[in-house]
Amino acid sequence: MQQDRLWNEWHPVCKAEELGDDPKQVQVLGERVVIFRNEKGVHAFKDLCIHRGAALSLGKVVDGKLVCAYHAWEYDEQGACTKIPALPCDRPIPKKARAVVYHCEEYLGLIWVCLGDEPEELIKYPEGETEGYRTIVCGPYEVKANAPRIIENFIDVAHLMFVHEGMLGDADHAEVVDYQVDFVDGRLITSKIPVYQPNADGRSKGGYTDYVYEVLCPTVARFTKTTEGSDEEFTILTAVNQEDHEQSRVFMLLTRNYELDQPDEPYREFQDTIFYQDLDVVESQKPELLPLDLQAEMHLKSDALTIAYRRWLSELGIETGTIPLDEEKQNRLKNKASVK
Ligand code: FES
Ligand code: CO
Repeated sequence: MQQDRLWNEWHPVCKAEELGDDPKQVQVLGERVVIFRNEKGVHAFKDLCIHRGAALSLGKVVDGKLVCAYHAWEYDEQGACTKIPALPCDRPIPKKARAVVYHCEEYLGLIWVCLGDEPEELIKYPEGETEGYRTIVCGPYEVKANAPRIIENFIDVAHLMFVHEGMLGDADHAEVVDYQVDFVDGRLITSKIPVYQPNADGRSKGGYTDYVYEVLCPTVARFTKTTEGSDEEFTILTAVNQEDHEQSRVFMLLTRNYELDQPDEPYREFQDTIFYQDLDVVESQKPELLPLDLQAEMHLKSDALTIAYRRWLSELGIETGTIPLDEEKQNRLKNKASVK
């Protein structure tokens, strides 16, 4: 079983508002995970009861404990079983009766889960916590693609003029100027990249906008758009949960420091449109796993950021998509390959 750095990364699994009183099943790197909330916060376990393997997400939260639907074993947030109804009361609860606990945090209106024993630091998004900035959550968008392909699409400058023509770009202004990519404070960051945008954020204001892209970790990236002579800032943070080899869920946080009293809906609709313009392209890309061997595809100078991203993944030892496959899936993929 191969586990890589993605195991120790934080994955956004759902909007915080989606997690109410009932436990909820989510999927991270091929693992079924149950998340639940009690007065102490949010918690994540492997979605499997040690008694007979039922999904704990079918159960309920009662007095802060997660109660299995099958024989009502109760687990506290540390994963310890605190009650086994079928056990005569003079017998102790076996120490082995535990749930597998994962790391879980609520941040930026999302629930984040880390499966690994040595979690990386959860990303920081200062705009999301600063007064004078308004953040809305868009998505989740379901995508049949691997997370690095999705992140790479998000940080790709040269597609804006074609996939998003008339909105985020203009085919007559397709040249990408040379820009700088640096690695600062554990993240990739570009210099300002000017892009001509007919309709930068759906407000039908045309003109040049400067993009600064940052890749915060292998599955989270952001950009900020600013325009010379204006104090307006528009940022999108994209966080991808790779649910399994073939399926990802994408959350996008849109932050603006202007029109704070205006409705959010047009921004969300605009973003939905943009996202679905990208979807067909991203789902069509082969190979599904981002090729980290730089000889495998062709690169231009304008691809400097995506080249740096691939190099970084390679340095981190992330063989993209090498999440453990269960046996059934391995066989399925093998069969698929042999049918060709
Ligand atoms: Fe969970 Fe029996 S399977 S209590
Ligand atoms: Co796009």
